[in-house]
Amino acid sequence: MIEEFLRGEEVSFIALCDGRDALALAPTQDHKAVFDGDRGPNTGGMGAYSDSRILTEAETNLVLERVIYPTVERTGFTGFLYAGLMMTAAGPKVLEFNVRLGDPETQPLMHRMESDFVPALMASAEGRLAGTRLEWKAGPSVCVVLASHGYPGAYETGKAIEGIEAAEAMGATVFQAGTRMGAGGLETAGGRVLGVTASGADLAGALDAAYSATRMIHFSGMHYRTDIGRKGLRRYNQNKGGSSSVG
Ligand code: GLY
Repeated sequence: MIEEFLRGEEVSFIALCDGRDALALAPTQDHKAVFDGDRGPNTGGMGAYSDSRILTEAETNLVLERVIYPTVERTGFTGFLYAGLMMTAAGPKVLEFNVRLGDPETQPLMHRMESDFVPALMASAEGRLAGTRLEWKAGPSVCVVLASHGYPGAYETGKAIEGIEAAEAMGATVFQAGTRMGAGGLETAGGRVLGVTASGADLAGALDAAYSATRMIHFSGMHYRTDIGRKGLRRYNQNKGGSSSVG
């Protein structure tokens, strides 16, 4: 099979839809490859960040007009429409659609959301999303996924997890995924085990907070990417400016 090669940065564009209207959530970027530098096999996602500068206002509107609104119009879809995009020089290209929130994209989204989410969810379910707004904190947020040794291949479970309280005492939220309560306390029970999520005044601050909290946590065989958000940091340092309509 021959496929078009797409050059650009991936963006996870998630919109809440009510069958007619759509409300874009803040933009996020996932990191699917298991190792730093986007090397190694793909995973469910090794980390994500949310920053208003991932998409400009013009890019957000383009994605809504070209991708989200036509899909909602044709299908009458209600719920979360997740478009995995490659932002190319020729505009946004859809890599995949999911009809759910993203993991780990949701963790940084929840850290940045200032509004009460429930009224927006009710408005989506009841077909009255028009006029609904969501407020986002200005500062970016970052989620670092801590995975079991061997993931995304075969991995062992049952490893004792330590340090979550210390990480949360530093201001991070540690979302649990592949965990369970064993006889000796919390232990690993999956490939992607924890999502250490933190915010900051700027992306460098959010990265620092997330990685400082990550270093408080330990389980045998734990591994994580050390370059979540680095591509964005490089891009913003080279190209100061840009804004987004959705936070
Ligand atoms: N992070 C990719 C997904 O949720 O499908």
